[in-house]
Amino acid sequence: MKILVTGGAGYIGSHTVVELLESGHEVVIIDDFSNSSGEVLDKISMITDKEFVFYEGDVCDKNFLESVFAKENIDSVIHFAGYKAVGESVANPLKYYRNNIDSTLSLLEVMDNNKVYNFVFSSSACVYGVPDTLPMKEDFPLSPTNPYGYTKLFIEQILKDLSHSNDKWNIALLRYFNPIGAHESGLIGENPNGVPNNIMPYIMRVATGQYDKVHVFGNDYDTEDGTGVRDYIHVVDLAKGHIKAIDYLNSNDGLSIFNLGTGIGHSVMELIKITEKVNDVAVPYVIDERRPGDIDEYYADPSLANEKLGWKAEKDIEDMCRDAYIFAFKNN
Ligand SMILES: NC(=O)c1ccc[n+]([C@@H]2O[C@H](COP(=O)([O-])OP(=O)(O)OC[C@H]3O[C@@H](n4cnc5c(N)ncnc54)[C@H](O)[C@@H]3O)[C@@H](O)[C@H]2O)c1
Repeated sequence: MKILVTGGAGYIGSHTVVELLESGHEVVIIDDFSNSSGEVLDKISMITDKEFVFYEGDVCDKNFLESVFAKENIDSVIHFAGYKAVGESVANPLKYYRNNIDSTLSLLEVMDNNKVYNFVFSSSACVYGVPDTLPMKEDFPLSPTNPYGYTKLFIEQILKDLSHSNDKWNIALLRYFNPIGAHESGLIGENPNGVPNNIMPYIMRVATGQYDKVHVFGNDYDTEDGTGVRDYIHVVDLAKGHIKAIDYLNSNDGLSIFNLGTGIGHSVMELIKITEKVNDVAVPYVIDERRPGDIDEYYADPSLANEKLGWKAEKDIEDMCRDAYIFAFKNN
């Protein structure tokens, strides 16, 4: 099958392209390099030794998309392209609503024009509100706490409406928990521009000596060691979930929602300690004030994805900390 991957030069997109190529799919990537670079494409070629097609451009641009669909006989689309920094979305909400929603609308309209109806969307656990119980199931109440989360919720609603309007659409909403780690080759991984928003790239910059210490925001949460607990998932496991979702859409109609997580929570302090242990490095840290809006803990119930997609996260937290460090060390 020929799969269009928007945002395929990004962190999760690049790992998914590797898995798609390795499972025999043809891949067409679109990216505007707003948060990535062309180097990633060379790395994908080095890892897979397989060919793929790349178009540089903006997914919001319908004329550009039409030109890609005219040249490529696309079967299914995986839509990663979008902005993802929570803090920036609070400071600049219009940038987030414009890019995340506009890109999705343009893409869906062009897909419809070209009779392509299989769509996998990158949603996020941040669409959920503060959970009353754990683990989190797909039918838990939805209540994002920032504009980024709202872009995901609004797009989910658009996709639900679309699916209700016509049963030709086959849609998978994948709600990712906290992707970390890197490809075991150390060639691709997460290396954000500027100061990282997420904890793991920050820990890696401390582990590789680029920053002095990790700032742990709060150690008085209602968790075992007092630091926040999240469901970290290896990015390669997450990537494999997309291959299963593409297969699923070929034999299942309508819209489906899946949590992609491990179902296991780990604390920030555990991430630091495990990074130190598996890589034999020091990760100094300091305890700072809690950040407003952070919650004690959450983790997924991934049983629906286990059962319906035949997918299960296989890599553990030590694999995640080891692979993230190998990538950070090589790309320091
Ligand atoms: N990384 C996470 O923690 C996480 C968690 C939940 C959901 N997600 C979602 O998964 C998707 C991928 O995340 P990621 O971590 O790989 O992010 P990323 O920033 O590494 O990748 C996104 C890619 O999309 C490209 N892009 C952005 N807007 C574009 C546009 N209009 N046209 C063309 N290309 C565009 C960027 O250049 C980048 O390469 C995003 O939609 C994100 O919101 C990520």
